Amino acid sequence: MEDNVTLIGFMGAGKTTVGQRLAERLSRRFVDVDEVIESRAGMSVAEIFAAEGERGFRRREADAVRDICRAGGQVIAAGGGTVMDRDSLARLRRSGAVVWLRGDMDELLARAAAQSQRPRPLLKRPRAEIERLHAQRERVYGLADYVVDVTSKTPDDVAAEVERVIQGLDRPARVTVPVRLSERSYDVHVGPGLLDEAGELCCAAGARGKGLIVSNETVGSLYGGWLQRSLSLAGLRVPRVDVPDGEEFKTLDTARRVWRAAVSHRLDRRSFIIALGGGVVGDLAGFAAATFLRGVDFIQVPTTLLAQVDAAVGGKVGVNLDEGKNLVGAFHQPRVVIADVDTLRSLPGRELAAGLAEVIKYGFIADPDLLQFVEDRLERLLAGDPAALLRVVARSCDIKAAIVAADERETRGLREALNFGHTIGHALEAAGGYAQLLHGEAVAVGMVGAAMLSARTGGLPAGDVKRLVALLQRAGLPTAPPEVDEEELLALIRRYKKALDHRARFVLLEEPGRWVVRDDIPEELVLEIMREQRSVWATTS
Ligand SMILES: NC(=O)c1ccc[n+]([C@@H]2O[C@H](COP(=O)([O-])OP(=O)(O)OC[C@H]3O[C@@H](n4cnc5c(N)ncnc54)[C@H](O)[C@@H]3O)[C@@H](O)[C@H]2O)c1
Ligand SMILES: [Zn+2]
Repeated sequence: MEDNVTLIGFMGAGKTTVGQRLAERLSRRFVDVDEVIESRAGMSVAEIFAAEGERGFRRREADAVRDICRAGGQVIAAGGGTVMDRDSLARLRRSGAVVWLRGDMDELLARAAAQSQRPRPLLKRPRAEIERLHAQRERVYGLADYVVDVTSKTPDDVAAEVERVIQGLDRPARVTVPVRLSERSYDVHVGPGLLDEAGELCCAAGARGKGLIVSNETVGSLYGGWLQRSLSLAGLRVPRVDVPDGEEFKTLDTARRVWRAAVSHRLDRRSFIIALGGGVVGDLAGFAAATFLRGVDFIQVPTTLLAQVDAAVGGKVGVNLDEGKNLVGAFHQPRVVIADVDTLRSLPGRELAAGLAEVIKYGFIADPDLLQFVEDRLERLLAGDPAALLRVVARSCDIKAAIVAADERETRGLREALNFGHTIGHALEAAGGYAQLLHGEAVAVGMVGAAMLSARTGGLPAGDVKRLVALLQRAGLPTAPPEVDEEELLALIRRYKKALDHRARFVLLEEPGRWVVRDDIPEELVLEIMREQRSVWATTS
C-alpha cells in the first residue's frame, strides 16, 4: 500500500487548501477529515459541536481517521485537534508521513477568522484559552515527521515545499533549542548538514581567532577535516588534537595532553576549545576548557546519539578516577551546541540503540508524546533516518534544557529526574568494569528495575512496565541484568555518588511523566526485583 501524507497544524494553517494543491501535484486522492465527518453525520462540524459537544465530535473524528487510514496513496488534511488523540496519531503515523504546517499563532488566527465560510467553534473561546490550547497542540505537532513553515507563503509555495521535503529533495529544517541560563544561555542547533555551517554558528556564538578541536582517533578521522574546513572558511584557525578512543581515556592524563596541546598552539584566555565526538570527548574537552587558564570558552559538536540528546547539553564536564566515574569535574556550559544528525550515519547500531535508551528515559519521566513517537518510529530511528532522528534529538534537548534551566547545578532536586534507571544502571556498569554494558544498555536494564520497583511500591500500572520492556526489546536493548555478585552490586549502589549519606536514591514513576525520589527502598527488595527481571524478561543481548 502506498504511504499517505497527512497534513496537521493549527486552524488557519491551510491544511485543506495546501492538501488539495499537494494532491494535484502528486496525482493523489485528497481526503479532508472534517469533510468525511460532516458527510457521514449529515451535519456540519458546528452542528455536531452544538448537538454532541466536543466529545461527540472527537469520537466521530477518531472513527473517521480509522477508516481513512485503511487506504493508502492519499493526501489527508487532519483537523487541528485530530492528532491530540493518541490512537489517531499512531494510525496516521503508521500509514505514512505526517507533516506539520507551522505558523505564527496570530497570523493563523487572523487567517482562520477570515475564512468565514468555515465555522470555527474554537475561535469563540477566550484568548488565554486559545493560547493554552495552541501551546498544548504544538507539543504534539512538534513531533511530526517534517515541519514546513507557512508564514507569509502561498498555498502553492507550501505545497511545493511539502512535496520536496517528503521526497527527500529538501533537507529537513534545523531546529534551535535555547538553553536559558541568563548570562550563560546558549543555543542547541539540531539538524542535518550542520557541520558545513559550524564555522558560522561558532562565530555567531562569539568564537574569535584561535581555537583547538579535541576529538578522538575514530571521530577525528571521519569528521575532523570537515569541521576544520567549515571553521577556516569562517576565518577561524583551529588545529586539532585527537586523543585515544575509549572511556578508559577519560582521565587526567588525557586532559594533560589537551592542556599541553593548547599551550603548544598558543591558546590564550580568549581562545576556545571545541569538542568533536561522543560523551567521552565532550566531558574530557569540556573539563580541559573549564580548567585551562582558569577557563576558556567551550563548544560542543556531539556525534553520538547519547551525546546529542544528553551529554552535550547541561554543562557537566569531567574525568574519571580509578576509584570511580566522573569523580573530578566542573560545571562549564558550552557557548553553543551543534548537533549534526548526519554524523549519526556512521555510528554503530549498538551505540545508536544505547542513545535511544536515554530518549526513552525522557519519554517516561517527562514526555508521553516523545515516548509515543519513539514507539511509532522505532524502525526508522534504528535505520538512522535523519528526519526521525532530528525530531527525537530536538525534543530530548528541549526536555534536558528545561530541566537544566530549572536546576543548573542539581541543587533543587529537579535534575535528579534524569537519573531514572541510573542507580541500578551505574552499579551494573561498574560491576562489569565498564566493558560489558554500554552506558545506555545499563540504563535500559536499570529503567526496567526502577519501573518494577515503582509498580511494587508506588502503584505504577503493570501495563507501563510491560510497555517499557516491549519498547526496549524492540530496540534491541537488554532488559535484565547479567549475573553479578549481589554484595558487590549493593556496595556499588550505596557508593553511587548521588547517594546522600550512603542511602541509595531511586527515581521512581507514579505514571509516565510523574516521578518521585525514594531513598527508603530496602536492599533486599532491589535484589529481589533484579532476580525477577532475570527470570521474567529474557535478555536480548
Ligand atoms: N556530561 C553529561 O551530562 C553526561 C551525560 C551522559 C553521559 N556522559 C558521559 O558520556 C560518556 C558516554 O558517551 P557516548 O555514549 O557518546 O560514548 P563515546 O564518547 O565513548 O562514543 C561511543 C563510541 O562511538 C564512537 N563514535 C562517536 N561518534 C561517532 C560517529 N559519528 N560515527 C562513528 N563512531 C562514532 C566513539 O569513538 C566511541 O568509540 C560517558 O563518559 C558518560 O559519563 C556525560
Ligand atoms: Zn545516562
